[in-house]
Amino acid sequence: MFAPASTILSFFSGVGFCKLYEDVADLPNLDYDFVIIGGMSLSLTLKQGGSRRTSPVPVEWSLGHGHPLQLEYISIQDADYTTTPQTGANGHVFDYLRGYLLGGCSSHNGMAYTRGAAEDFDRYANLTGDEGWSWNQILPYFLKNEKWTAPADDHNTTGQFNPAVHGTHGLISVSLSGFSWSEFEQRVIQTTNELPDDFPFNLDMNSGQPLGIAKSGWLQYTIGHGERSSSATGYLTPKIIQRPNLDVLLHAQVSKLVLFRRIHAAQTPIRHAGASLFVAKASKEIILSAGTIGTPQILLNSGIGDRTALEALGILTLLDLPSVGKNASEHAYSGVSWAVNSNQTVESITQNTTRFNEAFAEWNRSRTGPFVDPGPGTHAGWLRLDADSPVFNVHADLSPGPGAPHFEMLFQPFGVGGIPGHFISLTMAMVSPSVVRGSVTLSSNNPFAAPVIDLGLLSSEFDALALTEGIKLALKFASAPAWNGYLGAPTTVIVDNKKFGIFLMYHIVGTAGMSPRGAQYGVVDPDLKVKGIAGLRVIDASVLPIVPGVHTQAATYVVAERGADMVKQKWTL
Ligand SMILES: Cc1cc2nc3c(=O)[nH]c(=O)nc-3n(C[C@H](O)[C@H](O)[C@H](O)COP(=O)(O)OP(=O)(O)OC[C@H]3O[C@@H](n4cnc5c(N)ncnc54)[C@H](O)[C@@H]3O)c2cc1C
Ligand SMILES: *[C@@H]1O[C@H](CO)[C@@H](O)[C@H](O)[C@H]1NC(C)=O
Ligand SMILES: *[C@@H]1O[C@H](CO)[C@@H](O)[C@H](O)[C@H]1NC(C)=O
Ligand SMILES: *[C@@H]1O[C@H](CO)[C@@H](O)[C@H](O)[C@H]1NC(C)=O
Ligand SMILES: *[C@@H]1O[C@H](CO)[C@@H](O)[C@H](O)[C@H]1NC(C)=O
Ligand SMILES: *[C@@H]1O[C@H](CO)[C@@H](O)[C@H](O)[C@H]1NC(C)=O
Ligand SMILES: *[C@@H]1O[C@H](CO)[C@@H](O)[C@H](O)[C@H]1NC(C)=O
Repeated sequence: MFAPASTILSFFSGVGFCKLYEDVADLPNLDYDFVIIGGMSLSLTLKQGGSRRTSPVPVEWSLGHGHPLQLEYISIQDADYTTTPQTGANGHVFDYLRGYLLGGCSSHNGMAYTRGAAEDFDRYANLTGDEGWSWNQILPYFLKNEKWTAPADDHNTTGQFNPAVHGTHGLISVSLSGFSWSEFEQRVIQTTNELPDDFPFNLDMNSGQPLGIAKSGWLQYTIGHGERSSSATGYLTPKIIQRPNLDVLLHAQVSKLVLFRRIHAAQTPIRHAGASLFVAKASKEIILSAGTIGTPQILLNSGIGDRTALEALGILTLLDLPSVGKNASEHAYSGVSWAVNSNQTVESITQNTTRFNEAFAEWNRSRTGPFVDPGPGTHAGWLRLDADSPVFNVHADLSPGPGAPHFEMLFQPFGVGGIPGHFISLTMAMVSPSVVRGSVTLSSNNPFAAPVIDLGLLSSEFDALALTEGIKLALKFASAPAWNGYLGAPTTVIVDNKKFGIFLMYHIVGTAGMSPRGAQYGVVDPDLKVKGIAGLRVIDASVLPIVPGVHTQAATYVVAERGADMVKQKWTL
């Protein structure tokens, strides 16, 4: 935490909460020691209280569009992005969700809490030349961030996690599922007994060893006592917001850096009328925490990026840093759904208004019932391609090591597409994507225009072939005796990788990637300072040079925790 002597201004281009500044005219001044732009987790130095528009109901993420809760949720995320046509996915143009509100995407994400394999972080140490990013040195930051919490239904969790690898005093609550879809869950567990070679049970996937002798286990969520735990609710409690040295300004969108110590911003409601531009100054540091889309956009708008591309848009180059916005990596998934011979599925709630209202009333009354968990399901499996898989004839292994997964398998007690009936789904994500990467670039020199997002999804043969192999693994899982008499007809027909639906995980990283000090590529040094500029740091998911083989919020929290330590050290706070 910063010492009270430093003054901090934090910007969010989101919707807000009355203790925060709604209007720039109300700020006491525009001269600060630190100016923070965005900040999903950088708020760990700031701490905060939630936005009134962020719903604490965990389940909303998994519900189909059209539900009243879902509509509320859609209306709070106003980043209206789409991707370029993705050639690896039949030219499909995807919506690209970003939570532009207090807490960023941690206020609207799926809440899966997954740290990754030790080898993901050991690879970061290797790619940056800084041992400080290795698993052993990062583990204390995971423990610092985490507050292990009993699940909402207070069930006996013995045998569902390993207490030795969890923190109990952090600001982000983590818990196991708090509502049981038992008919489905028992079959998942039974399959790990019936096909132990392919799908052995793993006590705790967050130990750094998601595989090893074990590959599947209970999923953990950033949920505490039946409510979402986000960087907004965890790190910006009302008490912290009251600090005399912290001002948080809402509805403000930063357009660019001016002379590196100042930023140029506009307030969102007025921005469309073209007025209300202002400049805020930082005497010590500007910290960019605008996320993997927002951070490169601000850098490029400021003339920090590839000279040729900037010149083509008529933007004056202040610093030729060609890697800005490049090397984006993301996860894609696909899956299979089956009709089931059971009415114990999420559809029993989403397709029955009476039960939906009862379930919501239960959550509202006691923070229990089916609304306490989000979509991804109760378990996750972390799997590898067979060592002799034909995929390796096409490309060498791209996972960070033999203990890291190629796939994440999720087990979901619901179908896709809102079809009437009862369904379950097994989904498979390709979590070790190839070296062919995507990018975030500018469409024009209008700093408020939406950026161009190319995910480079499945654009290498390796990724597409691997995902096809992954789907075969899902079908193998469903072939276990445990599913006899339960599974009906599949609702998705798998012919080849082009024929099944591809979905996004929203795990984009890498657009302000770390590289070793002195490297001719990369955007920030291992201490997160932008190369070639003083007083400018990036602290968000964009600094991760390649996507870890997991959901990315836990990795973002440790970047923020370590980044905060670096800032404190530098300024002896
Ligand atoms: C739909 C969805 C589901 C997800 N599910 C999971 C999951 O289950 N588990 C998991 O681990 N991860 C999940 N993720 C990913 C995870 O949430 C992100 O990796 C993580 O939140 C990234 O944090 P960040 O701080 O880098 O950026 P963000 O969370 O994007 O935060 C950026 C902040 O900067 C602000 N900002 C941006 N531009 C500007 C600007 N110009 N001026 C001022 N402010 C600005 C934004 O308003 C926002 O508050 C999901 C993501 C999405 C979108
Ligand atoms: C990274 O790993 C490669 C291959 O193992 C090795 O040659 C290189 O020296 C390592 N780099 C650093 C900085 O550790
Ligand atoms: C929880 O379950 C474990 C093993 O399943 C058992 O040994 C233990 O007594 C149980 N605890 C409580 C409080 O019931
Ligand atoms: C992308 O990252 C790799 C290292 O992972 C690096 O070799 C390459 O130069 C980077 N590309 C760009 C355009 O920055
Ligand atoms: C679910 O099925 C059981 C047994 O088939 C039946 O008793 C029950 O009423 C059904 N519940 C709903 C909500 O349809
Ligand atoms: C909807 O749920 C209610 C309450 O559980 C139940 O009585 C009713 O039969 C259900 N309707 C259908 C169509 O399953
Ligand atoms: C939720 O609870 C509040 C009181 O805590 C009550 O006013 C409101 O009507 C409840 N909503 C529903 C849908 O039950």
